[in-house]
Amino acid sequence: MEAPIHPRSIVILDFGGQYAHLIARRVRQCGAYSEILPPETSADRLKDAAGIILSGGPQSVYDAGSPKADPKILELGIPVLGLCYGLHWMTQALGGQVKGGNVKEYGKTRIIIENGGGALLQDCGDSCTVWMSHGDEAARLPDGFTLIASSETCKHAAFSDEDRRLFALQFHPEVTHSEHGFDMLRRFVALCDAAPWAIENYTGYVGEQVKQEVSNRKVFMLVSGGVDSTVAFTLLNQVLGKDRVQGLLVDTGLMRKNEVALIKNAFDHLGIDNLHVVDESETFFEKLKGVYEPEQKRKIIGDTFLDVQKRVSEEMDLRVEDGWMLGQGTIYPDTIETGGTKHADKIKTHHNRVDAIQQMIEKGLVIEPLKELYKDEVRALGEELGLPHDLVWRHPFPGPGLGVRILCAEQSSPLSWEQAVPNGAQLTDFIQSGVILPVKSVGVQGDGRTYRHAVAYFTDDLRQIHDVHVLATMVPNAVPTLNRVLLCIDPDKKPKKFTFTPGYLTRARADLLREADAIVDDEMRRAELYKEIWQFPVVLLPVGVQDGGQSIVLRPITSIDAMSADAKLLPDDVLRTINDRILAEVPGIDAVFLDLTNKPPGTIEWE
Ligand code: XMP
Repeated sequence: MEAPIHPRSIVILDFGGQYAHLIARRVRQCGAYSEILPPETSADRLKDAAGIILSGGPQSVYDAGSPKADPKILELGIPVLGLCYGLHWMTQALGGQVKGGNVKEYGKTRIIIENGGGALLQDCGDSCTVWMSHGDEAARLPDGFTLIASSETCKHAAFSDEDRRLFALQFHPEVTHSEHGFDMLRRFVALCDAAPWAIENYTGYVGEQVKQEVSNRKVFMLVSGGVDSTVAFTLLNQVLGKDRVQGLLVDTGLMRKNEVALIKNAFDHLGIDNLHVVDESETFFEKLKGVYEPEQKRKIIGDTFLDVQKRVSEEMDLRVEDGWMLGQGTIYPDTIETGGTKHADKIKTHHNRVDAIQQMIEKGLVIEPLKELYKDEVRALGEELGLPHDLVWRHPFPGPGLGVRILCAEQSSPLSWEQAVPNGAQLTDFIQSGVILPVKSVGVQGDGRTYRHAVAYFTDDLRQIHDVHVLATMVPNAVPTLNRVLLCIDPDKKPKKFTFTPGYLTRARADLLREADAIVDDEMRRAELYKEIWQFPVVLLPVGVQDGGQSIVLRPITSIDAMSADAKLLPDDVLRTINDRILAEVPGIDAVFLDLTNKPPGTIEWE
């Protein structure tokens, strides 16, 4: 039997647009609980919803097999809002007509408000700018509907039947490019008799859910050090009591400086003392000996993690037969297969959903108390539970930890400008003043991943720093053998060519990187830049300017979802302080670089 929906929630029926999660998050920001369900969800199941939003989607309602909702949802008497494809489906279902638009319209468009804008568009004045992305449009409105906005290229840009509380917008109010978009959603939510949503009230509700689901069993939870598992473990402890929960934290040797202590302290402060920490760093370094290929490193780290977890849980007698179930910190976007991702060719399998875990989920042996929450809500819940603000707002950190930030290479791969530049290409002297590194890093160019060289420029002249910033976009396009551009603000360090020392994933190198990473973290917080930056990988390279030297790359970026990213140019004084501190305090590091490459062409991590 299908699970009932949350009473009085606002349901987003996902027609496969990329925006379903964005709509759901916006609705929650308006103070109403939202959930995402497949478009074919029956009207019967939706009868307790407070409102329904029909998302956009990539198809045309005329395409064979295009998704359809149950038309009876339009007779439930609850407010319904159709967006883009949702508008087309609603128009067709109610007897109006949809046609292929004359013009495919993408981007910002001015709409003129008609007939006062009805309940949803009343904040927009006479006109406003909205985000359009469509081919089809409504050619004839269904009976009972009134036009509330039109644009130059789309006559029926918005229409509504205010008596039946049915609304249709051709554009996307959920994206921030739509002026007053949030107001429109807020107005819609206000019409729905939705259960109020605030994380403070959720704590009690989720506590009851956890008690019911766990019943008289006990929960074993792997705590990674990341925000989600830390919050989930805290919640389980507070709801079930520490006698019925056991945590395990595996120290892989690839964690950040003081990370284990930070987490342990936060738990101690809350009276949580049932986290068992095992130092397995030696096991990890042993398995990684002599390995330098990035994907192989990832696989070894992942496999070793599972082995250690299995071994330790057996040693601790945490068996299903004895009433133990597994706890996971999975969050909402990882549990919902949205229409947008359902048909995508290859989306990475989330590690919380691998086969073995999936089978356990089906047998009811897994509890995921955060599975209804978005990341920002998990963080707010963490604070609500008493975890420190700085702990729950840490930057995302990759599963393999520092393992993917210690660049490994067995041999140098030198590349001269003559070899780098394709026949006859003319590059300026300034471009060719850069020194090419004798190691490669991963990038993403065109449709695939690349493995190419980086070029470094040495200058502390502000004007030239600006030029290097510009080159970061230009050079990887102009020179197909290069995918990254670096800046070093110590011009006197410029070598004729870099030195190289074979480098693997060793404890000594992890310790060096930990020190550099801690300096960066410290300076970011001191300069109050931590929140402005989405992620800040610090990378260790087996490359230096003197024999045996190594170097550090700073990779601050801003991003929304890690799919693309912008390199962040740090303020001069902050860059200078970090540069000088790393050179002075981290032994064996003889150069510091700032990576100025966007994604694409560079990836966020170097491996
Ligand atoms: P890239 O380097 O592909 O990274 O631009 C995108 C985001 O993914 C993170 N990342 C990982 N996360 N396991 C993870 O859990 C991994 O193996 C891994 N590799 C990259 C990266 O930190 C960034 O946020």
